Amino acid sequence: MVQNKGNTKPIVLIVDDQYQTFRSLPRLISPDVFLSIWEPDEQEGLKALKDQGDKVRIVIIDLKSSGMGGGGFLHWARQIAPHAAILITSPLGPFLYQGGTFYDLSGQTLKHNINAILLSIVQKMDRGHGHEENKKRPPKSNKSKERFGVIIGRSKGINKIYDLIEQLRDSSATVMIQGESGTGKELVAQTIHQTSARNNHAFVAINCGAIPANLIESELFGHERGAFTTAIHQRKGKFEIAHGGTLFLDEIGELDRELQVKLLRVLQEREFQRVGGNKSYKTDVRVIAATSRDLRSAVLAGHFRDDLFYRLNVVPINVPPLRERREDISLLLDHFFHKIAKDMDRSVPILTEEATRFLLDYSYPGNVRELTNMVERLLVTCPDGRITTHDLPDEVREEADQAPGSAVVLKELPDGGVSLQEVEKELILKTLKMTSWNKAAAARVLGITRRLLYLRLSEYGFSSQ
Ligand SMILES: Nc1ncnc2c1ncn2[C@@H]1O[C@H](COP(=O)(O)OP(=O)(O)OP(=O)(O)O)[C@@H](O)[C@H]1O
Ligand SMILES: [Mg+2]
Repeated sequence: MVQNKGNTKPIVLIVDDQYQTFRSLPRLISPDVFLSIWEPDEQEGLKALKDQGDKVRIVIIDLKSSGMGGGGFLHWARQIAPHAAILITSPLGPFLYQGGTFYDLSGQTLKHNINAILLSIVQKMDRGHGHEENKKRPPKSNKSKERFGVIIGRSKGINKIYDLIEQLRDSSATVMIQGESGTGKELVAQTIHQTSARNNHAFVAINCGAIPANLIESELFGHERGAFTTAIHQRKGKFEIAHGGTLFLDEIGELDRELQVKLLRVLQEREFQRVGGNKSYKTDVRVIAATSRDLRSAVLAGHFRDDLFYRLNVVPINVPPLRERREDISLLLDHFFHKIAKDMDRSVPILTEEATRFLLDYSYPGNVRELTNMVERLLVTCPDGRITTHDLPDEVREEADQAPGSAVVLKELPDGGVSLQEVEKELILKTLKMTSWNKAAAARVLGITRRLLYLRLSEYGFSSQ
């Protein structure tokens, strides 16, 4: 039995009488976020539920375990802890029982996403049932934001990140940020630190890909004097410098296997030793890892340890490339033209309509970093304050040249001509086909109101539903 006095972390109770299915679960559940309790049978499980009261937010049971899934345990667990979500695993995959409804969780394997799944269940419950902690917070607005601290963007993808940063405010959960180069991973990491209670301590970044393998251990954990030939002085490592704050491990996928083991040990034991020393130092840091590679494939290929991956991937954040959130481009251009012009003590330049269109349509393979560099270059190379397409970089103009012209192709008119209504009908139906009959999306593409779309559909004899 585990005592939970004074601990406010949500409890995850694992009841497993065969200790088969869940052998690895307690190890995978992040102690930064949850307190996991494992009980060997259903009687002990029910006792733990009674003892811990409403601190138990999630119960995990296995249908295969004798007597449990059949109703007995489920029945009593619901009586004792009606507030808790019950996560049931079966040979068919995990599913979630909550408020009388079963939710199918298949498609997300429990082991691979355990922390993200548990966190999303707790958050969903907090939103749905007004959990005490949550009542103190102002209700979340549905309106999308255009910036969050120093992060600019109004797309759905970026707003999802704003929400995650908000949710991370009160926890020290480990975060894994994935995204192409220049998408803003470090900016997201800094913002998580700035909005958290750790913001009066250091934010320390280390790029695991930029430091030679033989130096990285001492960079992370420090070294004692004489630890190696060039260690003339004793030196603190990043873990020590970041104590109380946040450690940003950039390009974590580049860490070699030996260091992956060492890092995992430090994350689990929260203690480290300097290179060449034997004194143990306690560490209290929030770790944020980032990668521009697909780490899951690296795990599958055996290049990255799966246990370290799960330990780091507690809250995964995916920063989409700029070409997949085009709504952000105009906002970013506007922001950086103003900001950099001001920094250079220059007036904001005027862009021709065509130059603006070229910049809005460009694919930005180097993402936001490419956009900011381009803006800076344009301000330097166009001192007269006017920017035309000729001033734009070759790659932007070349892409614009290759882009198809107007999407609307006017075919030859038939002899008797064609009515505007017929053209309109064909356009509407083709757009609906394109959006898989998502009417809101089709109305957006067509640039008409949903009301008008419904009206037209009923005129064509389609139901307006
Ligand atoms: N949404 C954004 N709003 C404002 N500035 C941004 C945004 N995204 C990125 N930037 C800016 O773009 C540049 C690149 O961002 P950052 O260094 O965070 O990217 P990254 O994903 O860490 O890149 P890399 O993988 O190459 O290290 C920085 O100058 C950053 O301030
Ligand atoms: Mg970076």
